[in-house]
Amino acid sequence: AQRRRLDAALAALRLPPAILRELRDKMRAELEHGLKRETQAQATVKMLPTYVCGMPDGTEKGKFLALDLGGTNFRVLLVKIKSGRRRSVQMYNKIFAIPLEIMQGTGEELFDHIVQCTADFLEYMGIKGARLPLGFTFSFPCRQTSIDKGTLVGWTKGFKATDCEGEDVVDMLREAIRRRNEFDLDIVAVVNDTVGTMMTCGYEDPNCEIGLIAGTGTNVCYMEDMKNIEIVEGNEGKMCINTEWGAFGDNGCIDYIRTKYDREVDEGSLNPGKQRYEKMTSGMYLGEIVRQILIDLTKQGLLFRGHISESLRKKGIFETKFLSQIESDRLALPQLRRILQQLGLDSTCEDSIVVKEVCAAVSTRAAQLCGAGLAAVVEKKRENRGVERLQITVGADGTLYKLHPHHWIKNCEYKDLSSESSCLNILFFSPFPSSFSRILQETVKELAPQCDVTFMLSEDGSGKGAALITAVVKRLHNVGQ
Ligand code: BG6
Ligand code: GLC
Repeated sequence: AQRRRLDAALAALRLPPAILRELRDKMRAELEHGLKRETQAQATVKMLPTYVCGMPDGTEKGKFLALDLGGTNFRVLLVKIKSGRRRSVQMYNKIFAIPLEIMQGTGEELFDHIVQCTADFLEYMGIKGARLPLGFTFSFPCRQTSIDKGTLVGWTKGFKATDCEGEDVVDMLREAIRRRNEFDLDIVAVVNDTVGTMMTCGYEDPNCEIGLIAGTGTNVCYMEDMKNIEIVEGNEGKMCINTEWGAFGDNGCIDYIRTKYDREVDEGSLNPGKQRYEKMTSGMYLGEIVRQILIDLTKQGLLFRGHISESLRKKGIFETKFLSQIESDRLALPQLRRILQQLGLDSTCEDSIVVKEVCAAVSTRAAQLCGAGLAAVVEKKRENRGVERLQITVGADGTLYKLHPHHWIKNCEYKDLSSESSCLNILFFSPFPSSFSRILQETVKELAPQCDVTFMLSEDGSGKGAALITAVVKRLHNVGQ
């Protein structure tokens, strides 16, 4: 009977193939709404033009700064790009913490903090006097009218600084630099992390026309034909569109697959009702969904001897990294119990097996949902090109994509970029894709059978990509002079 009740709780998370196909088609419809002039204003998937119209061609060179805000870490980077036959990208980066009270304080405090970190970095590298061109990776929805202008539509994930929404974030950064009055920077481009990731991978593989983030949040960008982007003048060539697909479902169109656990997570978040798809698929929320399910199972007497501990009541105890650890196949039960113990959860053997099952169900659903969305994007690309079969590369990044347990799979194309970054993560170099990425890739294959999709992992994608975009803009600017 216990097994039956557990199965019933987890059944709500299962997505049969027919539902996944339906979700793919709904996502496809939302992508179209966001591109059309009449429906664009109401569209939930915003399809934001990025004014990034081309890929690097290897002739870019110079020294650039990049700021990378919005993921797990805030980074400042110095990127040296060499062109020609010995083309290479060298990166130096430093990670800075953004305290919660800054993330959720005033806009001025946030941007002053960013500039303070940048000053520390310039000092550290001994380059404070050089007015370097800068690419700003800002991983939130921005309405752009050019490559160096971006109005914040609304905060997502864990940020909620006041007086920023509706403001140009490049102006806010410039003002903070002016306030400090210590150094100057030439802010050339503001880019989403998906765009940075696509660019980094595009530098290695010209067939990379999609950027995917499965991390704290989730999002996709892709190169769209200009003639399909009704809100931007011109019909020639392509422009990268930041889909902001995390908001998929904010009009209620995926409510039928949301469980009571999803609704609780949403209600307890900084932005209730918003980013519904993101809240079912990304690192910031998966642990919370797990916690809600565990509370429910405990209330039903199926876990922890029916006792809801103080720890279990604590929001955010399950970070993505714990989820990944708990799910790992290599983990023996005693180790698993130790992890749970560290989280303050006193579990029996049976408890820990149940916890593991819950984690697997939540992350499997996330990977499938992400796969259904991506299938819609690759299918759209195939139709755009008017081909029977499409070969395309997706540049991918994000803690969920990278750090989820590793499994060996055959017949999977997998490219690993080595990074010149000074901060290396051993797990990153594993040639084994994570179970998240495995399920994601399998789902795309099933739902977009006419597309051959290669996934390319990108380390520090956004910062490097932002520098590459800055280099392209500079190159084009110099040609125009
Ligand atoms: C990083 C990028 O590699 O991936 C960030 O440099 C990006 O800009 C991030 O936001 C996404 O992953 P996470 O898990 O840190 O949100
Ligand atoms: C959120 C942001 C989006 C970003 C994504 C991944 O969805 O709104 O801009 O790309 O997180 O970091």
